[in-house]
Amino acid sequence: MFRKKINFIIVVATVITCLSLFSKAIAGEESVRKEPFGTVGGKPVNLYTLTNKNGLVAKITNYGGIVTSLMFPDRNGNLGDIVLGYDNVDSYVKNNPYFGALIGRYGNRIGKAKFTLDGKEYSLAVNNGENTLHGGLKGYDKVIWNAKELKTKEGVGLEFTYLSPDGEEGYPGNLSIKVDYILTNRNELKIDYFATTDKKTVVNLTHHSYFNLAGGGTILDHRLMLKANKFTPVDKGLIPTGELRSVKGTPFDFTKPTAIGARIDQDDEQLRFGGGYDHNWVLNKSRSGVMSLAASLYDPKSGRFMEILTTEPAIQFYSGNFLDGTITGKRGQVYPYRSGLCLETQHYPDSPNKPQFPSTVLNPGKEYRHTTIHKFSVK
Ligand code: GLA
Repeated sequence: MFRKKINFIIVVATVITCLSLFSKAIAGEESVRKEPFGTVGGKPVNLYTLTNKNGLVAKITNYGGIVTSLMFPDRNGNLGDIVLGYDNVDSYVKNNPYFGALIGRYGNRIGKAKFTLDGKEYSLAVNNGENTLHGGLKGYDKVIWNAKELKTKEGVGLEFTYLSPDGEEGYPGNLSIKVDYILTNRNELKIDYFATTDKKTVVNLTHHSYFNLAGGGTILDHRLMLKANKFTPVDKGLIPTGELRSVKGTPFDFTKPTAIGARIDQDDEQLRFGGGYDHNWVLNKSRSGVMSLAASLYDPKSGRFMEILTTEPAIQFYSGNFLDGTITGKRGQVYPYRSGLCLETQHYPDSPNKPQFPSTVLNPGKEYRHTTIHKFSVK
């Protein structure tokens, strides 16, 4: 009897040791590698390769805080690059439709490129029809960020900082910004934003990756879910009218996972204005500022699944309507119409001119905080 017990204990101990050795062998080491990525305006910029314990790889440059590549396996374990981008920094400098970039000081549009704070009117760059878009002529997608490598309990990452001077692109106040990108060992790309100002200003920071979970082709088969019962309809220039409209019975209802292509070409005034989807959805939240699921995206062919969680009140879904097959990206890949989509967590567009929308004003002594998590898995 005693012998049997000893034997049993030996067998169990051996199995446990084998299992732990095996899991160590398959769970790789996390790492950050830095390499030169060329120069911008005579200044060197770098490309950082973050690898998590499960072999997920994110490449990020400190030029524009751009995620240039995100490698993650399909349901058969084959790694694929699921974001659009370029192989070299010169292409990003020459012609970047915001691929992978950090966006600010104000992500999305401000109507007529003007807003008023405490009775003073501020004029911004007119770079999108009669409006301003994504921070102006030289937004945060075009600046060189200071970078520091991070090793956290959750995973490896990068800390980007930038001091946006008072008056830059017309915005008031020196804005001190920190953005942390963390590639967690739970297979998430987590983005944490912080900002403080020395003068009252407006802030709306976001991230502009173009996702294609299939790694090529269009995104029309992707199944999208948006946790939003309402969206903000727009005028011809894509400025919200101020109305919050129910998605019920419209092509904007993504409360259940739906193929993006299913209704995109319907005869609908809002779809016409956007040339497809290019709108802001108001997220269903129990409380403002709480972290909650905003969106999920599934590619049935590869099995790749992405969920987006955020503390922000809204999300802009843009279906790549301006991609027209004229851009040749990474590995010589041509990007056709609607071959990438953006899910930009943010405040509503034109909030500085819409007092009824959640405020984007940042006061001195207060901190802007925003966290967004992209969680990857396969189904
Ligand atoms: C945002 C806008 C779109 C477009 C893209 C970049 O998502 O809402 O209209 O400008 O950026 O091309």
